[in-house]
Amino acid sequence: MTQTSHDRLLIIDFGSQVTQLIARRLRELNVYCEIHPYQNVTDTFLTEFAPKAIIFSGGPDSVMRDGSPRPPKAAYDLGVPILGICYGQQVMMHDLGGKVEAGEHATAEFGRAYVTPTDDRADLLTGWFMDGSGREQVWMSHGDHVSEIAPGFQVYGTSPGAPFAITADPARKFYAVQFHPEVHHTPNGKTLYENFVREAGFSGDWTMGAYREEAIRKIREQVGDKKVICGLSGGVDSSVAAVLIHEAIGDQLTCVFVDHGLLRMNEADEVVSMFRDNYNIPLIHADESDLFLGELDGQSDPETKRKIIGKLFIDVFQKYANQIEGAEFLAQGTLYPDVIESVSFSGGPSVTIKSHHNVGGLPEKMGLKLVEPLRELFKDEVRALGRELGLPTSFIGRHPFPGPGLAIRCPGEITREKLEILRKADAVYIDQIRKHGLYDEIWQAFVAILPVRTVGVMGDSRTYDYACALRAVNSVDGMTADYYPFSHEFLGETATRIINEVKGINRVTYDVTSKPPGTIEWE
Ligand code: XMP
Repeated sequence: MTQTSHDRLLIIDFGSQVTQLIARRLRELNVYCEIHPYQNVTDTFLTEFAPKAIIFSGGPDSVMRDGSPRPPKAAYDLGVPILGICYGQQVMMHDLGGKVEAGEHATAEFGRAYVTPTDDRADLLTGWFMDGSGREQVWMSHGDHVSEIAPGFQVYGTSPGAPFAITADPARKFYAVQFHPEVHHTPNGKTLYENFVREAGFSGDWTMGAYREEAIRKIREQVGDKKVICGLSGGVDSSVAAVLIHEAIGDQLTCVFVDHGLLRMNEADEVVSMFRDNYNIPLIHADESDLFLGELDGQSDPETKRKIIGKLFIDVFQKYANQIEGAEFLAQGTLYPDVIESVSFSGGPSVTIKSHHNVGGLPEKMGLKLVEPLRELFKDEVRALGRELGLPTSFIGRHPFPGPGLAIRCPGEITREKLEILRKADAVYIDQIRKHGLYDEIWQAFVAILPVRTVGVMGDSRTYDYACALRAVNSVDGMTADYYPFSHEFLGETATRIINEVKGINRVTYDVTSKPPGTIEWE
């Protein structure tokens, strides 16, 4: 538990995949909150934590199952407002004398749904049903549903599968909703949180500056007088992590910049000079491109490539860590979206979409403990923290670049020749985007070189060269994304420039897949 002078909101986590989004919404409202798994929330914990309000998260279990997760009974007696979400609503109703029914096909709801108001007097609903159509879009994901509300509660909104979609006991300030107000697909969800925290009396005085101070204190507590090595990729995340950790522990930090041979054009020089010019952080520039490209030679399976890169990163770090006497910690700029898509935040089972090299596969035998000060943050929050720490704007605004680098933009076998072509095409594409003033409007843009050659004609000659795909997406946090709607003129001009300026490419395509169903990277 963190010591803080701010009013605290406690989120009791019942295992939902989107619990962190609740925390994010609250941070946006400048409210200090902590997520704690339900198992850790004992009566003593509650007394010590002294929350000003509590949120029960969603979760995959059924309250009908014996032994399913529960909050401590004492939570209801604290006299503080409580908001239950999805499973959190069901658990609240069940505990307080209502009824929950097992999911039947007819009442299960997954995805977009519409809630119709039955009463709009509660403060919770202020500004909620405002679109004039008399109904509000929400995101549902439930099998079970509440079939009888607990004494003291009233119904404020219903949906076809959830007769008690919005319920509240205004006297006790207990609120419970069946849908997920924290996800983007509930467009007005933020209003609900806003009303809830206002109702609970939060002043909204918590800022990124406060986050920085608390993060620094936590790093000092965790690391003590030991040494830390930090894997620097040149991306925003690891840079912000490094500067934050440096501020916390100074020269106990050594950064290792691994050039795996999969970086973009001039990237290594830019990163090294940015750190040397702006900061006095000890930095080892490790050129390990032969090692990485050697091991990747002949490999074309995406997961195999990711695993090889992940393993080599660990080996390389281990090698440098061994040279730094007393190094006991490895710092990484892991963000929350990396965590949620690779392993469940609370360590429970969840589906692995991709093995992110910086999260999955860190063997225990590595012998280094992890320092991951950004693990709870989303990309835009990391940028805000970077600004708070005074990193150059040009650096903070850089598009995200994945740890496995160009390897995952080169489907099929990776060769030095393909990487060189890819680097040049990528540089032209990014130059085009900058020239058209679009760089800051786009969340991430890059070129992928395709494992296919196509026939073309240049001058009077036949060409037989690689095809490439341009990718540009807009996203808030990398978890979902839409392709960027370039004009045809832009695409045509860019294709012409790439084909004219990059030897080895004779066909350019534009990837118009959103995420989901696609992912942002090609592998
Ligand atoms: P995907 O392809 O999963 O990408 O939709 C979402 C965001 O994550 C980045 N990405 C990674 N970042 N290590 C990283 O540090 C990785 O292994 C990795 N894989 C994808 C990707 O560039 C996008 O911004």
